[in-house]
Amino acid sequence: MYGGLSKVDEGVVYPKKDEEISVQQVDDALSTNIFNVMLGRRSQRKFENREIEPSKIEMILAAADTAPTAGGFQGFEIYHVKRADIKLKLVDAANKQPYVNAPVVLVFCMNPGRIKMNFPENILKKFSLQDATLAAAYAQLAAHALGLSSIWIGMIEEQQIMKILSTKYVPSSILCLGYPQKILQPKPKRSLMNLIHQV
Ligand SMILES: Cc1cc2nc3c(=O)[nH]c(=O)nc-3n(C[C@H](O)[C@H](O)[C@H](O)COP(=O)(O)O)c2cc1C
Repeated sequence: MYGGLSKVDEGVVYPKKDEEISVQQVDDALSTNIFNVMLGRRSQRKFENREIEPSKIEMILAAADTAPTAGGFQGFEIYHVKRADIKLKLVDAANKQPYVNAPVVLVFCMNPGRIKMNFPENILKKFSLQDATLAAAYAQLAAHALGLSSIWIGMIEEQQIMKILSTKYVPSSILCLGYPQKILQPKPKRSLMNLIHQV
């Protein structure tokens, strides 16, 4: 799972060497039943003021990178926001939602330029949006499997975020992660009968 992890901008390579979580904890997370993870996840906007272990962050980033991408071209980028001043600017760019200032903040961006397929620009854009979205969803589930909670932020001012991050990549979502202040129960959903349309 740790293989093939990407470099971040400052040249730091994941994974870093640390002993914050034990081999047993990693094994437990890797053997977690995916259905339990999916069924137990609930959005969370109140995080403990507690750092997330770098090893857990690495696992979450690695999980994001396991998501399928159009043509396998990985048409997305992840910005791991560590600077407090940038987090505060992102709050502003996300309709002033205060919980964006979370212990871990990941901005998922589209990079259609990576997708070397002979399709019109609008299709490649659509692919990169789907790539970035899937990666964020995988990261969100991985975070839950590791005992963390998250909130997906879609209400974002794209241009403002591009300026804040000094990037040419258009953001698709922000994933905010942390230890929950309180464990919340999953929200009820409509019945599958209502959701599924057999044709
Ligand atoms: C595309 C999308 C955009 C979202 N944008 C926001 C947002 O900007 N702010 C927020 O607080 N929650 C946002 N959410 C989280 C949803 O409100 C949350 O997932 C929903 O209420 C269902 O709750 P659950 O995740 O616990 O099942 C977003 C979720 C998705 C999938």
